Amino acid sequence: MDERPDIDLTRPSAARVYDYYLGGAHNFAVDREMAEQAIRMWPDVPLIMQANRAFLRRAVQFCVSRGVTQFLDLGSGIPTVGNVHEVAREADPESRVVYVDNDPIAVTYSRTILGDDPRTTVVQEDLRHPDDVLAVPEVAALLDFDRPIAVMMVAVLHFVQDDPTKIVAAYRDAVPSGSYLVISHATHDGQDEQADEHTALYRRRTATPMTMRSKGEVEALFDGFELVDPGVVHLPLWRPASPEDVADHPERFAGLAAVGRKP
Ligand SMILES: C[S@@+](CC[C@H](N)C(=O)[O-])C[C@H]1O[C@@H](n2cnc3c(N)ncnc32)[C@H](O)[C@@H]1O
Repeated sequence: MDERPDIDLTRPSAARVYDYYLGGAHNFAVDREMAEQAIRMWPDVPLIMQANRAFLRRAVQFCVSRGVTQFLDLGSGIPTVGNVHEVAREADPESRVVYVDNDPIAVTYSRTILGDDPRTTVVQEDLRHPDDVLAVPEVAALLDFDRPIAVMMVAVLHFVQDDPTKIVAAYRDAVPSGSYLVISHATHDGQDEQADEHTALYRRRTATPMTMRSKGEVEALFDGFELVDPGVVHLPLWRPASPEDVADHPERFAGLAAVGRKP
């Protein structure tokens, strides 16, 4: 890879560490080392990440089943198995996806994997600046903002330290009635000190410290949306597809998940 000032290979990146947990190959030694440190500290971590990815898949299938085939995936990460466009297309081949991430390596890998697919695009932007994201020409070219759009913020808002309510509201205001908001978010609800140690590790080692939020705080992000049943729940409990999706102690999955519909 050419030398780029925006890429720091001496520091683990949340995107690449997550890729490692999911069994992907787009990570470096520094990422694997931090992931292994996290696993020693909290052996459930890979399972939690996999439960998050499984929620993402179920949420995409849900949106397509409700006739929404356009996706704005904010904080999309490194495309690992079961990407939004792959899941959506199984249900509707016409589905369109804009992937947005601010990690240059995630974006580079995404571009390589997606190639010249005309129904997907990837843009390098910071989701905290909705006006910039929405002004990217490829976004308007691929998504029709007169038709419902699913706005995905899956496992990303805990990397936003300030209150993200206004950011989410800006995307809500940009999409029409019938659109969906899909969120999963790390939480301390139901956790013990392992979760605190894990948060401290991200704060120490990465450029993207995590901010855990409570169920009430996640619910507040759905202002202006009607929560779809079962509301804000721990990851495995959001419309499980089979009994195997629900673990014995779903509350140990330190993530909350929900989908809302803009009326
Ligand atoms: C844990 S991954 C989640 C990937 C995917 N959404 C999923 O759930 O499978 C979080 C991603 O959010 C990205 N990210 C963090 N802060 C961001 C920001 N402010 N704007 C855009 N992307 C961001 C990271 O680079 C990383 O790729």
